[in-house]
Amino acid sequence: MSTQTRVQRLRESMKAAGLDAMFVSAPLNVYYLSDFRCRSWSLCQPLNDPEGFVVVESDRLTFLCDDRYDPSAARKAGFDHGRIAAPAGAANIAAELKRLCRPSWKALGFEAASLLHADAVGLMEALPDVRWKPADELLVRQRIIKDAAELDLLRRAARVTDEAYAHAVKTLRVGMSEADLAGEINHYLRTHSEGLAFDTIVAFGPAAAAPHYHPDPSHKLKKGDLVLMDFGGVVEGYHGDMTRVVFMGRADARQREVYEAVLGAQEACLKGLRAGMTEEAGDALARGYLERKGMADRFIHGTGHGVGLAIHEPPRLKTSFTTVLEPGMVVTVEPGLYYEGWGGVRIEDVAIITKDGIENITRSPKQLTEIAC
Ligand code: GLY
Ligand code: MN
Ligand code: MN
Repeated sequence: MSTQTRVQRLRESMKAAGLDAMFVSAPLNVYYLSDFRCRSWSLCQPLNDPEGFVVVESDRLTFLCDDRYDPSAARKAGFDHGRIAAPAGAANIAAELKRLCRPSWKALGFEAASLLHADAVGLMEALPDVRWKPADELLVRQRIIKDAAELDLLRRAARVTDEAYAHAVKTLRVGMSEADLAGEINHYLRTHSEGLAFDTIVAFGPAAAAPHYHPDPSHKLKKGDLVLMDFGGVVEGYHGDMTRVVFMGRADARQREVYEAVLGAQEACLKGLRAGMTEEAGDALARGYLERKGMADRFIHGTGHGVGLAIHEPPRLKTSFTTVLEPGMVVTVEPGLYYEGWGGVRIEDVAIITKDGIENITRSPKQLTEIAC
């Protein structure tokens, strides 16, 4: 889907919400609508060092940036260029908004979750005659359903992530450190995609008991360790996310038991997920499986999360989350079990919700893998 179609959808929801204009500041939303890629992919842009903003009206599209940035991608996507003075700050940005402001602007939507408080106050003080209305929900609701172009990029991100895993398994050696293995994965992702979806997690043995562990250069791989790897590549801003666990040498009985339980929970969820169920019902597919085995007390996080331009975004497969899943939503399915002093197992794929189930876009093998050493 083109940016024009995305803008058109946003215009429809702005109309329904009674907005005459919308000021878009979240970097991912600026990219989604205009193809302008902020260098910083964070949640918000501080107005004293901004990159680019989008102003959407029913009959006009404006892209705001200062001379340090190139507006040509947004121009190609149909946006007029509104120049802001550098260094910016709320007053300079408000000056450009005042130039654009027309008497018809009564309600101006903005993203409350993507502006620093002081910046929002500064803009509102500079334009006191329009009603600033938080409108974050409009693009959250739109982005939760991926269009065909986005699904294709997510498939490509999953593919390069699969390839990085195949590469990583080939490099496994007793004596290498967690940082060495993370370095192999990171080098592959940086040279075959736009980079890392998040800081790669590599944990050996007991270290895998912490789901968001950071690889340690002094922690060396031993025969008998389990090896947890969680990472993803990025393609045109869209993220991959995969976790696999393999065993250095023969897996012992406990390692097998935990691995098979997590794999069973993951497969139960992948098999049962479908449009029409709530986020928490999706979570319950994996959690219920582990409950029946009496192991769910060590399943200490949600089953999954949406993934797209952000690595973590709605929907969430989590207890007490009630959004109904729809075709075009994309979620990870990543149950895990964690035992302090022993380690942890998590297995993670990315699934597209379809009309009649899911399409699993992660293809790496999941049968219990023992590395000869
Ligand atoms: N470690 C990030 C995730 O899998 O959600
Ligand atoms: Mn992950
Ligand atoms: Mn994940």
